[in-house]
Amino acid sequence: MFDVEKIRKDFPMIRNHPDIIYFDSAATAYKPQAVIDAVVDFYNYRTVNVHRGDYPLSFEASRLYEDTRTVMKKFINARSEKEIVLTYGATSGLNIVAYCYGHENLKEGDVVLTSYLEHASDILPWFKACDKTGAKIEYVPLTEDGHLTVENFEKAMHDGVKVVALTFVSNVLGYEVPVKEICRIAHSYGAVVAIDGAQAVPHAIVDVQDLDVDFLAFSSHKMCGPSGAGVLYGKYELLEKMDSLLFGGGANARFDKEGNIILKEAPYKFEAGTPNIEGTIGMKVAAEYLMNIGMENIVAYDRELQKYFSEKMLQLDNIDYYNPKADVGLVTFNVKGIFAQDAAAYLAANGIDVRSGNHCAKILWNTIGATETLRASLYLYNTKAEIDRFVEVLKDITLEKCVGVYL
Ligand code: ALA
Repeated sequence: MFDVEKIRKDFPMIRNHPDIIYFDSAATAYKPQAVIDAVVDFYNYRTVNVHRGDYPLSFEASRLYEDTRTVMKKFINARSEKEIVLTYGATSGLNIVAYCYGHENLKEGDVVLTSYLEHASDILPWFKACDKTGAKIEYVPLTEDGHLTVENFEKAMHDGVKVVALTFVSNVLGYEVPVKEICRIAHSYGAVVAIDGAQAVPHAIVDVQDLDVDFLAFSSHKMCGPSGAGVLYGKYELLEKMDSLLFGGGANARFDKEGNIILKEAPYKFEAGTPNIEGTIGMKVAAEYLMNIGMENIVAYDRELQKYFSEKMLQLDNIDYYNPKADVGLVTFNVKGIFAQDAAAYLAANGIDVRSGNHCAKILWNTIGATETLRASLYLYNTKAEIDRFVEVLKDITLEKCVGVYL
C-alpha cells in the first residue's frame, strides 16, 4: 500500500526543511536516504576508478557501476544492457542522438518533425543537426490547449520525415504525448523516433519494447537520483552503427599515431572519460527505490494528486490555469495581473517553492499565450495537505502583497 507519510520519512530534505512545501520536482526531485547512503558509501569505501584498475576495489566499483546498467534495463524493460548508455543526464543523451545519429543520417531536404512543446535540450541539438546537414525542422500542430494528438501527428507525417524528436511529457503542461502510436506511424514511414523522457520516466510506466521507441533519454536527478547521471536507451542496431560524441579513455579499443581509432562496441563507445561513478550508482539505488514502492503505485498517487490539485485550482477566479487536464502532478498558471516571478517570490515567502519563467520551453508561448508562467510540480512525497496550503496562499495573493517581497 502507498503510504505517503512513510515515504516522507525517507527524504532528509523534508525533515530538514519542515517549513518548506517543495513543488519543484519537475526541476529536480528530492533524494531518499538510500540514494544519499549509496553516494556516501562510494566515497567512504570505494573511491577508485571503474574499468581501469586491476585490484579488488576497482573490480567492486566496476561491478556496482555495471549493475546500474542491469537495473536501468529492468526499469525501462530494454532488451539488453547493451542498449543502456550511461550518460550525464537527458541533455547529454539527446545530444548524442542528434549528433551521432542526426548529423550522420540526415541530408539536405530531410525533415526532423518536432513540436512547440519541446524543452531546449530536445530541440536545440536538432536545430544544430539541421544547420549542419541542410535538413529542416517541421512542427506537429498542437491543439488549442497544447495537446499533441495522434490525428495531428498523422497529418504532419510524410515521406520526407527522417527523425521524429518529441518529448514524452511536456515539462510545462504535463501532457503525455502518445508515443506508442507515434512510433507505429513514424516507423511505417521509415522514420526514427527519439524521445525526451526526462519528465515521463519518473512519473509513468515506461516500457521501451512495448513503445517500440528507437531512442529515449532521461535523467537520474528527476527520479530521486543524483544529478549529472542519466540514461540514453537506444535500439542496439542503431547504436551499433553510430559514431561517438565524446572521444577519450575508456571508449576506444585501440588507436595509433596515424590517428586510426577503433571504438569499443556500444554502449561503451559512448562513455569516454571517467564517468560520474557515484552518481550512476546512486541512480541505480533511486530506480530500485521507485521499483520497490512500485511504479504503478507512484503513478496512481501522482494522478490522484493531479486530480485533487486541478479541482482546487479550477475553483480560484484570480488565476489563469493552463493545464487542468495534465497527465502528471503538474500545475501551470499565472495569477491575473501579477508577473510570474513576483508571484513565485510571494509563494516562496510563504514557504512554497515553485518554478517561474519559461521553463526552457521558449516556443510554447505561441500556444499557451504566455511567455512566463508559474509551475507547481509534485512527486511521490507531496501531500493533499500541502496542496490545500498552496491554494490558501494563492487565494490571498495580491499585487500589493507581492511588492517588496525579497528573499
Ligand atoms: N528541465 C527542468 C525543468 O523543467 C530543469 O524545470
